[in-house]
Amino acid sequence: MNLFDVYPLYDVTPTRAKDVWVYGQDGKKYLDLYGGHAVISIGHQHRRYNRALKQQINRIGFYSNAVQNPLQKQLADAIGELSCLDDYELFLCSSGAEANENALKLASFHTGKKRVIAFHNGFHGRTSACVAATDNPNIVAPLNAQQEVTFLPLNDLEKVRKELAKGDVCAVILEAIQGVGGLDKAEDSFWEGLQAACEEFGTCLIADEVQSGFSRTGTFFGFQKVNIRPHIISMAKGMGNGFPVGGILIRPDIEAKYGLLGTTFGGNHLACRASLAVCEVLKREKLQDNARQMGEYFKGQAAQLPQLKQIKGDGLMLGMEFDFPVGDLRKRLVYEAQIFTGGSSNKNLIRILPALTVKQKHLDRLLQILHQWL
Ligand SMILES: Cc1ncc(COP(=O)(O)O)c(C=O)c1O
Repeated sequence: MNLFDVYPLYDVTPTRAKDVWVYGQDGKKYLDLYGGHAVISIGHQHRRYNRALKQQINRIGFYSNAVQNPLQKQLADAIGELSCLDDYELFLCSSGAEANENALKLASFHTGKKRVIAFHNGFHGRTSACVAATDNPNIVAPLNAQQEVTFLPLNDLEKVRKELAKGDVCAVILEAIQGVGGLDKAEDSFWEGLQAACEEFGTCLIADEVQSGFSRTGTFFGFQKVNIRPHIISMAKGMGNGFPVGGILIRPDIEAKYGLLGTTFGGNHLACRASLAVCEVLKREKLQDNARQMGEYFKGQAAQLPQLKQIKGDGLMLGMEFDFPVGDLRKRLVYEAQIFTGGSSNKNLIRILPALTVKQKHLDRLLQILHQWL
């Protein structure tokens, strides 16, 4: 049987990995500055993570949400401590799209409304409501297009207020820093204005932290440079360091009710154990501080590169925008320099999304090559 051919693939076959390195079947060693799309947070094959998962699988890997699983509460406590949002409540699922789907659904249940405000270039996943809230008509099927979504320019508060005033909006959803869209970010005053407007007009504010969360931007959540309290925060990617785990944090004024949300796989023993190990390593190795420091270092160094228009993002969610399309350069980086980077919908932008364990010497390797080539 053939695979349904939806992914344009690099001709590289990883067989093992360690920290920021991926080893190919071709015998080559690749520097992973892409983190498998911002998923690898504490580094590939972290000793503590592997040990925790091995121990867990030898006890119990899965049981459904019909019985007690104390690991879920342990994980809620760990996330509460790291995020300083310990009064929020946690619902667990298995991917970023599922997290946003539940966030939007919950906002609609809570408000009794159904229109969504999303932003130009935003990306929230590929399923029902969240693909409808994604600003890319190529991935929205006619089935998805029935959702009522209004797209507005990021950072234009007046336009948002005007829409919210119509009274039919259940949720405003946005990324702290746009990932797939090319690293534009919501300004601090925009977040503050959104929070106030959402409270005023009875709308839920959803922070999509699927990519920017779990310390990648140098704060636990990307929005936490500002003192706001979104109604719902979605997370996934770095949460499991490769194990499929996602979730939403829900502000205590949104009430739970049996049957309101649910999933078969979400919050299973292995998923919780993986995410608990991530939380432990983030704290023990102070990886949030490292993300911030390495981000500042990279921005400072990259500013000297020829043909660079600007460097965007925070922490280890970075984008280098050049004055030319970077597709060929990124291919050369893989095949001639053995360095993985990320692309985005901005064809001139290279994304840097390494494990939060990355060191100066790894970043220097990319910078040296770019200095040689440009
Ligand atoms: C900001 C954001 N939200 C949601 C998603 C969807 O996550 P998943 O691919 O796990 O469904 C992504 C994936 O790239 C993302 O970057």
